[in-house]
Amino acid sequence: MSSNLFDFGMIGLGVMGRNLLLNTADHGFSVIGFDKDETKTAALEAAATAGTTVKGVPDLAHMVQQLQRPRKLMMLVPAGKPVDDVIESLLPLVEKGDVIIDGGNSHYTDTLRRVKYLRDKEIHFMGVGVSGGEQGARTGPSIMPGGDLEAYAHVKPLLEAISAKVNGEPCVAYLGKEGAGHYVKMVHNGIEYAIMQLISEAYTLLKHAGLNNDQLHETFKTWNEGALQSFLVEITADIFLQNDDKTSARLLDVISDKAGSKGTGKWTSQDSMELPVAVPVIDSAVAMRTVSGYKDERVKASAIYAEAGAAITVSTDEWIKQVHDALYFGTILSYAQGLAMLFQASKELAMDIPLPDAVSVWRGGCIIRSTLLETFTTAYKQSPELPNILLDAGVAAIVKAAEGNTRAVVAQAALSGIPAASLMSSLAYFDAYRSERMATNLIQAQRDYFGAHTYQRTDISGTFHTEWNH
Ligand code: 6PG
Repeated sequence: MSSNLFDFGMIGLGVMGRNLLLNTADHGFSVIGFDKDETKTAALEAAATAGTTVKGVPDLAHMVQQLQRPRKLMMLVPAGKPVDDVIESLLPLVEKGDVIIDGGNSHYTDTLRRVKYLRDKEIHFMGVGVSGGEQGARTGPSIMPGGDLEAYAHVKPLLEAISAKVNGEPCVAYLGKEGAGHYVKMVHNGIEYAIMQLISEAYTLLKHAGLNNDQLHETFKTWNEGALQSFLVEITADIFLQNDDKTSARLLDVISDKAGSKGTGKWTSQDSMELPVAVPVIDSAVAMRTVSGYKDERVKASAIYAEAGAAITVSTDEWIKQVHDALYFGTILSYAQGLAMLFQASKELAMDIPLPDAVSVWRGGCIIRSTLLETFTTAYKQSPELPNILLDAGVAAIVKAAEGNTRAVVAQAALSGIPAASLMSSLAYFDAYRSERMATNLIQAQRDYFGAHTYQRTDISGTFHTEWNH
């Protein structure tokens, strides 16, 4: 630390802010954190590693004054108005050339607005996605920065130092202009919703075959040692073993099935439709969280429609294999749809998102990290302009290998009445995507029939309208 000034400041010392700041200090940077709540500033200093420079202050101006110039400061506060409030309170304190980072889950349109607002004042504003939860923040998250390159140059060494590493490579890279960092994080979360839903479907499919929590643990543990290796499969294996401290049950069995959400999955679906790009696995995952909230109605409907579905016809071992492949297939389709969305959005919204780098950044630290991302990194190295990873020969080979068992699982789920919306959706999307000719010629005919919306022909170029015989 030169002239007793700090290298980096944090606004908001909640779980994420505190852990990210401690991580930064562990990498040799002197850090200062602000929070109005003095128990949080004290908790920050108490948790510092011996020999690191960590200070907590309850006065924002005091913090800003003690930062080296250009100042580099991050806020980790709830998305929405709190971010705007922090910006307003910083404005009298910062100077031209300072870099303000929003490390929370802000909507990218808010980030765009803030970038422009602060650009007029010659202050850099960066929207940076941070993934990995509490543990990731402390030991190495995946970091998705967007904004202007000049600002990124100021924070690059610090972000690289604190990020997760895969094969020695930092899980952070410049991911594009203006709101790109938050856009990539939003889509990351959409994929997160999809994969979580698919895993929950695999869980219910296996439960229907009679697997108990210990067997589910063993199954997911084994899966995590193979092609499905991923953070989410790994933690799922652990979850089955957790005992409840209030009863003799396993904790999972006493957790309510109403799923919460903070909105990032919904944003992904909403924005996909704006582009437009089809992300039905993500859409169905968002919808299933919504359906999970209809508890009272579901209780009534379950009485009205109670019916024993068809029994699972294959052996338990075979079923486990089939469900494995279906989960693998659905997971690949989730990434494919999310990445196709980034590909499209990068162009439509002029963000210049380098897709190979986005995929590479997700390989470590984040919630959707998985072995599969190595396969996608290879695909993008060969062809950075791939509109959809399903068009890559390597990806096609693994999708084809899992396709048969996915069909078997989807068919069985339908016959047995087991809800598996996202698995079904992934297969439905796949079948449409691989159709050289879809049935949408009929939709064009209907549109022209009732609304003279015109259509194109397969044999003659131009736009046509027909006076349909009716
Ligand atoms: C991450 C997570 C993180 C958070 C989600 C939860 O990458 O670390 O995505 O940002 O856990 O926002 O979102 P829901 O509450 O909407 O499930």
